[in-house]
Amino acid sequence: MEHFEKAVFGFADCEKGARALAKEMALPFGLVDVHSFPDGESRVTVPISATGAILYRPLHQPNSKIFEVIQAASALRDNGAKTINFVCPYLPYMRQDKVFHAGEALSQKVFGDVISPWMDAIITVEPHLHRTRTMDKVFSNTNGVALSGGLAMADYYRKHGFDKSTLVLGPDEEAWHTAKPFAEALGLEWTAALKDRKGDRTVVVTIENTDLKGRPVIIVDDVISSGMTVFEATKNAYDLGAKSVEVAAVHALFNDHTHEALKHAGVSWVISCDGVPHFSNKIPLAPIIAKALKR
Ligand code: R5P
Repeated sequence: MEHFEKAVFGFADCEKGARALAKEMALPFGLVDVHSFPDGESRVTVPISATGAILYRPLHQPNSKIFEVIQAASALRDNGAKTINFVCPYLPYMRQDKVFHAGEALSQKVFGDVISPWMDAIITVEPHLHRTRTMDKVFSNTNGVALSGGLAMADYYRKHGFDKSTLVLGPDEEAWHTAKPFAEALGLEWTAALKDRKGDRTVVVTIENTDLKGRPVIIVDDVISSGMTVFEATKNAYDLGAKSVEVAAVHALFNDHTHEALKHAGVSWVISCDGVPHFSNKIPLAPIIAKALKR
């Protein structure tokens, strides 16, 4: 097997992002092969080896991917990897960061405990660090790096232009994490709505004490999944007189049906970072990830 000092490894479902990172870092790329057996098990094969391996995979729809990533890490170690930096632009299970109801597993901790032993470092973008504030609380004994998706999105707007009267709206109390740095980087006013989640697809969003009349609004969030948070925030913004609403999200997990519903509610444009491959991707993350890996 051909051996390199450093190389980037990625899977077919995230090949574009992994190759972009390899290109950005001027490193060789190895496409990890996953063979699915009829019984649902998978066999993972690495095509090349490297002393310093950078393993790339966002973990949306995570369950089978997690075990394939661990198999890839094991194969890389068996073939001479001394360090493995796991680039996981989207970290799963971060929203189950507490036991909400008696008897539930603390998924965030379980995930961290499963992944940590295999990796020397975990590099991600805008993880949902809410009640758990730092990466080391999730991944013990592993160096965790959380990059700002809000700043990456602000860079995009700076390059492409924006209306200076825009109000940046974070759709919930966690907005300080993504919407605040986004707004501050662009010198825009921002506010956070209040959100009460009643179920997976039921949320109530309230915007208080903010003058939206005649102003463009950009709703900025870390994740769009069912889309209900953004949907409700959009309806509220229009009810309060917003001139237009567009949406910028770090991680887009929503489907076509949700996109149609958002357009129907008056969202003119949805853009996202390309950590999770999605039709709304506009903002490349390879430059900031490469910079973090070079540090
Ligand atoms: C919440 O904690 C996050 O910041 C997002 O607002 C939320 O996960 C979005 O979920 P959905 O699109 O299903 O409302």
